[in-house]
Amino acid sequence: MHTAAGPFADATAPAPIVRIRGGRSVRAINLDHAATTPPLRAVQQLVGECLDWYGSVHRGDGHLSRASTKAYEDARTIIAESVGADERQHVVIIGANTTWALNRLAYRLALGIGDVVISTALEHHANDLPWRRGAALHRIRCDARGALDMDHAAWLLRQHAGRVRLLTVTGASNVTGVLPDITRLAQEAHAVGARIAVDAAQLAPHRPITMGDPADPAHLDYIAFSGHKCYAPYGAGVLVGRRDTFARGEPEHVGGGVVRRVTPDAIEWADAPARDEAGTPNLVGAVALAAALLELRRLGHERITAHESRLTAQLLHGLASIPQVTIHGDDDASRSTGRLGVVPFSVADHDPRLVAAILSYEAGIAVRAGAFCAQPYVATLTGDDARCDVPGQGLVRASIGLDNTADDIARCCAIIGAIADGHYRDAYCWDAADRGFRPHDEQIAVSDRFAALRPPPRTPATAVSR
Ligand code: ALA
Repeated sequence: MHTAAGPFADATAPAPIVRIRGGRSVRAINLDHAATTPPLRAVQQLVGECLDWYGSVHRGDGHLSRASTKAYEDARTIIAESVGADERQHVVIIGANTTWALNRLAYRLALGIGDVVISTALEHHANDLPWRRGAALHRIRCDARGALDMDHAAWLLRQHAGRVRLLTVTGASNVTGVLPDITRLAQEAHAVGARIAVDAAQLAPHRPITMGDPADPAHLDYIAFSGHKCYAPYGAGVLVGRRDTFARGEPEHVGGGVVRRVTPDAIEWADAPARDEAGTPNLVGAVALAAALLELRRLGHERITAHESRLTAQLLHGLASIPQVTIHGDDDASRSTGRLGVVPFSVADHDPRLVAAILSYEAGIAVRAGAFCAQPYVATLTGDDARCDVPGQGLVRASIGLDNTADDIARCCAIIGAIADGHYRDAYCWDAADRGFRPHDEQIAVSDRFAALRPPPRTPATAVSR
């Protein structure tokens, strides 16, 4: 098997070997970076060192505790610098992931009746559901290809001027790779007195993002992103935002670390960001995220964009050459630098989950099928309900990352061509227990092949005599 190394082979961990149908072993191909990403080598290495020195952050006087506290605060500083945050005006709150961060922001903004939030039709559920509570929510439309309707954005902002507290928008779609013009949206939001939040979960691993100078109308007020999508899957995510939003008021979660003084009857809250970081902090996650951001900077955002755009164009060309495949969203390969390598498609007469299963069992290629936690957006693209629990609905999504090569894309397109020609369909059945398709002749579900942990067998319940 030809395995030409990509330009970032030294930075990424070697792909695991997986056993495919028929018993052959192949190098796994990851085309599911939009969902989550494996750790970079530099991240793994630093996490190892960090664990050797692991101690209690903010809560101890031993050597390891002091070293860990310093590492945690250094990670915060690196994360701030990476997004152009000025710690006098902004805070970096470290938590679990983007979903956590956007929920925290919604809580902190304390929106109420009379307030308006403007979001978009492109959003992941994490940047839609938190805004359905409290304020009136309006969504900027998208067209049939999934691009944001900027005229509608301007109209909504004018229409609700004076009442719009927040415009919240994805920095990059996790479904189509669309990159909304966040600079223009920031200018237009600020012109009507609103603030802007960017869900940067999908953007941060692929493009630089900066908060900007608060005096510049194009600045951002809040951004959120996750370590696990930035090649640092150790359970941390961040909310970066205006310090004034977090300097006052009660935190959502209360407990250790968020207070300066407690008496039986009174609480004096700590300053931001400690006020919003209840409980022992995730040192490993914070250090991993900071290490990943440093490594992405060292590798060079321009090189990353050039590599991913080349592979995106190759994927779009490859898919377009298969008559039974429909690409949803922008299918123009000449525009691949203006989007991310996140490509949703469908194969005629094939359940999206069947396509994903065949890619996995026949070639060790990982993609995702379904609605990608963005059901309203996928419904717009497909015209169906895009329910996750209804067979046949949704799309297949291939998403490109640093570790991919031209070989990966060629292999993926070749198998999709064979799938479209009906080569495998009759060999597969739905496995209700595994909640996925699998080959008739394959008794071992994919999920059983890797087992880091084997739960002990359950002991049968015994009657308790009283
Ligand atoms: N939000 C992740 C995805 O797009 C999980 O797949």
